[in-house]
Order: sequence, then structure tokens, then C-alpha cells
Amino acid sequence: MHPEIFRKVAGHWLSGVSVVTSWDKDGKPVGMTMSAVTSLSLEPPQFLICVDNRAQTLPAIIASGSFCINYLRQDQEHLAAAFARRGADRFGALAFRAERTGAPVLEGAIAFIECTVNAVHPGGDHTIIVGDVVHGDAPGGEPLAYFRGGYRRLEGIIDPQQAWW
Ligand SMILES: Cc1cc2nc3c(=O)[nH]c(=O)nc-3n(C[C@H](O)[C@H](O)[C@H](O)COP(=O)(O)O)c2cc1C
Repeated sequence: MHPEIFRKVAGHWLSGVSVVTSWDKDGKPVGMTMSAVTSLSLEPPQFLICVDNRAQTLPAIIASGSFCINYLRQDQEHLAAAFARRGADRFGALAFRAERTGAPVLEGAIAFIECTVNAVHPGGDHTIIVGDVVHGDAPGGEPLAYFRGGYRRLEGIIDPQQAWW
């Protein structure tokens, strides 16, 4: 398949936007924007993330052995852009805190999930990291969405009956 068609097809899958955080060998916080993030298993609780082999955040996640997935709120598009841009001061004035693993939990994220690295699998030009969930919460809010290469906001719900959570 031609890479352009691949990107076009892949871009037609609606996703949320997350910033996956960890820290580097100097103890500095690191993170990158990621949409290839999914829950994997309930028993045991696991998530997986797919990281570009060239991403500088990848060796930090593997070396530190833990990471935090932060689901962005609809008004956090600037964070999505900053954490995808090379050379940007990503944590600059950003408010974050450490909870269980020490991987940065971003202020305003609608949900976060902290994991320790369970397995690292090759996935072509990406690396699949399976994480054991150690902690997480969902303060709530409206999500930032990504579709066909652009950020979106959800316009409404079809079924007005909300889920219990
Ligand atoms: C909306 C969006 C989603 C992204 N999803 C992923 C992803 O799932 N995996 C990935 O490796 N890169 C993804 N990227 C690209 C990285 O955020 C980008 O390459 C980043 O600069 C990597 O940072 P690093 O090299 O400092 O780790 C995404 C970018 C955007 C804007």
C-alpha cells in the first residue's frame, strides 16, 4: 500500500489525543503526543502504546520502566501541538504532579493511567509497549479528538442516556 493511502485510511479512525509522559536518565520529565494508545486487558489491567522507534521518549520509557497516559481535554490542543513538536519546551510553565510512579500527571487531563512496563514488542517502525496499570483516575471533562489529521471537538451525543460513569 502506498504510504499516502495508508495515512489517509488510518486517519479516518477517530481517536482521542493523549500525552504519554515519563522521565529521562537525568530525572527530567519527558512526554510526547500519542493517539496510538488503547486499553488492552482488564484481568490483569493493562494498556498498550505504540511508539515511533525514532521518538526520544521511547528510550526514556524503557529505561525508567514506567509511563503515564494523559487523555487531553478539548481545550488542550496547544499541549498536543507542543508535545508533538521537536525542540519545544514541552513542560515549560505546565502544571503537573507526581502520583504513584512519578511519571508526570498533567493538570486538566480528563483521565490518566499510570503503568509499569511489562513487555516491549517490535512493531515495524514502531515499538509496542505493554504496561501493567498501577494507578489512574478520570477527573472528567470533554475530550480532544483527532480525525483526518485535525483536532476536533465532540458536538454532541446520539444517545442522551449517559453511561453510569
Ligand atoms: C495527534 C497526534 C498523534 C500522535 N500519535 C503518535 C503515536 O501514537 N505514536 C508515536 O510514536 N507518535 C505519535 N505522534 C507523533 C509524536 O508526538 C512526535 O513524533 C513527537 O515529536 C515525538 O517526540 P519525541 O521524539 O520527543 O519523543 C502523534 C502526533 C500527533 C500530533
